[in-house]
Amino acid sequence: MTLGAIWAQSLDRVIGDGQGMPWHIPEDLKHFKDITMGEPVIMGRKTWESLPERFRPLPGRENFVLSRQAAGAWSAGATIIRELPIDGWIMGGGEIYAATVADADVLEITIVDATFAEELGDRAVYAPEIPATFTLDEETDWQQGETHRFKFQRWVKIQPTA
Ligand SMILES: NC(=O)c1ccc[n+]([C@@H]2O[C@H](COP(=O)([O-])OP(=O)(O)OC[C@H]3O[C@@H](n4cnc5c(N)ncnc54)[C@H](OP(=O)(O)O)[C@@H]3O)[C@@H](O)[C@H]2O)c1
Repeated sequence: MTLGAIWAQSLDRVIGDGQGMPWHIPEDLKHFKDITMGEPVIMGRKTWESLPERFRPLPGRENFVLSRQAAGAWSAGATIIRELPIDGWIMGGGEIYAATVADADVLEITIVDATFAEELGDRAVYAPEIPATFTLDEETDWQQGETHRFKFQRWVKIQPTA
């Protein structure tokens, strides 16, 4: 398996408000589940805490949580790690995506057809810029979700030619 990152972002790259995501798109949650099922998922402590308690740990996947804190009742069901593993799915949040995007082999990105930066102001958490080492491999048409239109993109790392 390789290292992948998976996120949903608005047109202005917002991924959250520090606590959750400012949209509700069940089709995107299903897409996330389909891609990550059976594989390790890796997330920052704040993203772990943003998951509703009844949904964590995410079932069918080994849950790794990056934190400098000691494991405890708060992390029940997850494995606390201090360093990033070399394979699995990076699933947020902003701090973890920014630290790992350059090392990923594939990016699964959902684009939500809305902007949020102005509305959220200082609370907005952002996806990283996609490094120039990636190329757009696949993109769906726009689809109508519960609260917003969305489309899926898959970016892959350009392999250097010998
Ligand atoms: N739209 C999406 O696809 C999506 C996906 C995921 C999350 N989100 C959103 O993103 C937001 C959360 O993102 P965030 O940037 O605030 O936080 P985050 O990246 O989820 O977590 C940050 C935490 O990770 C730990 N950490 C970071 N680097 C580390 C390192 N090198 N070693 C050990 N631990 C490390 C620290 O935990 P400690 O403080 O415990 O040490 C840090 O406070 C929420 O709004 C969430 O809803 C959106």
